[in-house]
Amino acid sequence: MSKIIVALDGFSSCGKSTTAKRVAATLHYAFIDTGAMYRAVALYFHRHAVEVSDAEAVEYALKHIEITFAFNVGRQASDTILNGENVEQEIRKMFISEIVSQVAAIPAVRHAMVAQQQKMGEKKGIVMDGRDIGTVVFPQAELKIFMTAQPNIRAQRRKLELLQKGEDLPLEEIVENLRMRDEIDSNRTEGPLKRADDAIDLDTSFRSMDEQVNFVLDHVRRVQREK
Ligand code: DC
Repeated sequence: MSKIIVALDGFSSCGKSTTAKRVAATLHYAFIDTGAMYRAVALYFHRHAVEVSDAEAVEYALKHIEITFAFNVGRQASDTILNGENVEQEIRKMFISEIVSQVAAIPAVRHAMVAQQQKMGEKKGIVMDGRDIGTVVFPQAELKIFMTAQPNIRAQRRKLELLQKGEDLPLEEIVENLRMRDEIDSNRTEGPLKRADDAIDLDTSFRSMDEQVNFVLDHVRRVQREK
C-alpha cells in the first residue's frame, strides 16, 4: 500500500488528536499534533517573557526553540519535548490555552512551525492534526478531514480532559476560552482555521471515538484503492 498524508483539521476539542493518534497507530504512520508545537512555543514565550508584539524578540526566541516528539511507551502516546525538556503536562494547562492563540497568530511563528511540519511529512506516511494542515502545510495531502462538534459538547469534553489532568475549572470559563480561540484562530491573516475545499466533513458531536477512527480509516483505504 502506498503511503499517504492524512490532514486532520478543525476546531479544538473535537477529538482531533485522539483520532489522529489512533489512525496513525493502526496504519503504522507517524503522528504529529501541531497544536502541541504552538503550545510549546507559547510556553517558551511565557517563560522568557517574550512579548508577541516585539518582532525582534520573537525572531530571536524562534532561533532558540527546538521542538521534538518522544514516544512514551507507558502511555502509548507521544510527548512534546521543548529544548530537551518534556513539557507535555505543562503545555496542556489552561494558562497556555489562554495565550496560545495570540502566539499562533504571529506570522514568523507560523512560518517556522509550517517549515518544520513540512519536513516531518516529507516521506509521507503521516497523520497530522491542526488548523491549516490541508490548506497551508500540505495542500497536496491525499486525504483531508475537517472535524467539527457542537460548542457545548466540545466544552464538556475539554472540561473532562482538564479534570483528568487535575484542573477543575467552571464550564463557563472553558466555553469562553474555546469561543475566544475559535475567533482568533479563524480570523488571523496567516493560515487561519479554514476548511479546505476538498476536505471531507466529520461532525463528531454524536460519534464515539471508535466511529471517528473508523470513518477516517475507511477514507484512507478508499484513497489507497483509488491511487
Ligand atoms: O489543537 P490545540 O487546541 O492544542 O491547539 C492550540 C492552539 O494552537 C490553537 O488555539 C490554535 C493553534 N494552532 C494553529 O494555529 N495551527 C495549527 N496547525 C494547530 C494549532
